Amino acid sequence: MAMQTVLNRKLLVITGKGGVGKTTIAAAVGMAAAATGRRTIVVEVGQESRLPSLFGVTAPQQGVETRLQEGLSSISIDPDRALLEWLQALGGRVSGRVLASSGTFQYFAAAAPGAKELIAMVKIWQLTRGGGRGTRSGGYELVVLDAPATGHALGMLNSPQTFGAIARVGPIAGYTRQIQQLLETPSHTAYVAVALATEMAVTEVLELQAGLQRQLGRDLEAVVVNALLPRRFTARELARIESLGDVPSAPQTAQQAAIRSAIQAARAVHDRARFQHNQLARLRRRSFDVVPVPFLWGEELGLAAVAGIAKRLEQRL
Ligand SMILES: Nc1ncnc2c1ncn2[C@@H]1O[C@H](COP(=O)(O)OP(=O)(O)OP(=O)(O)O)[C@@H](O)[C@H]1O
Ligand SMILES: [Mg+2]
Repeated sequence: MAMQTVLNRKLLVITGKGGVGKTTIAAAVGMAAAATGRRTIVVEVGQESRLPSLFGVTAPQQGVETRLQEGLSSISIDPDRALLEWLQALGGRVSGRVLASSGTFQYFAAAAPGAKELIAMVKIWQLTRGGGRGTRSGGYELVVLDAPATGHALGMLNSPQTFGAIARVGPIAGYTRQIQQLLETPSHTAYVAVALATEMAVTEVLELQAGLQRQLGRDLEAVVVNALLPRRFTARELARIESLGDVPSAPQTAQQAAIRSAIQAARAVHDRARFQHNQLARLRRRSFDVVPVPFLWGEELGLAAVAGIAKRLEQRL
């Protein structure tokens, strides 16, 4: 991938289907950027903050910038909470009227689509300016957004348009144009998809690309294809392996049975890898810049594994 150009932006948006490795890749990209000397913050969206625990840092407060390592921080931004805080701030001014009933929050969230996403985007935009209001500015050069899954990510990226029209006054009104500009300007923001080499995940990449074009006139810069299986055998090698199974079907010795299961396993791995390869080809035919990342074995991906992925991504710089 033209990663250098990707890392040179202010904002890097990472999205894709649920569970494909967005957070893992966002963490690795953050490490790769920090390794090239860019002060970087990774933004997790939602209630979770997985990065601090990955880096063995004490769980921070929601919405607080946390230092992970030299040149790398993370923060969790929860749109629901951000909206609540915003309404409370507003409530101070229009006291009692906006926040009159406990149902106001739900009412507002439902009546103002895109509001909470836009408020989250305001926070992200502030980080691209070096730090949020009331925080000790980290002076970030790159913000890596570990965005929600495709549909929600597109909703979030569209929030200046959906909510901007409603919020003509108030504390957000001034931001919508600037956020929109940040998202539309190629030298400022890059979009990267993460996918597994499965039919559904690749289809979601195509939908994401179409959505980015439609909403922002932008293209995906790269597609990280995560958790690829190695192609262990050529077709000829597999044929040779399978010929070992040419033994009488019954009665079988224990050894012959073991050979048969080994052959079946080899065939399964081979077919799976070939299927994955076809999905890669599908992406390349659409001229996406494909960045392969191997499947890493282990119960839970630890920091060392993520650092390994970061190294791979760095090599594409
Ligand atoms: N290359 C890899 N090899 C093996 N396991 C991986 C790899 N990448 C990610 N994983 C594992 O897959 C799981 C999902 O990864 P991750 O949480 O990064 O996905 P996600 O897209 O952020 O998920 P969500 O949509 O829930 O936010 C995790 O357990 C992670 O450790
Ligand atoms: Mg995630």
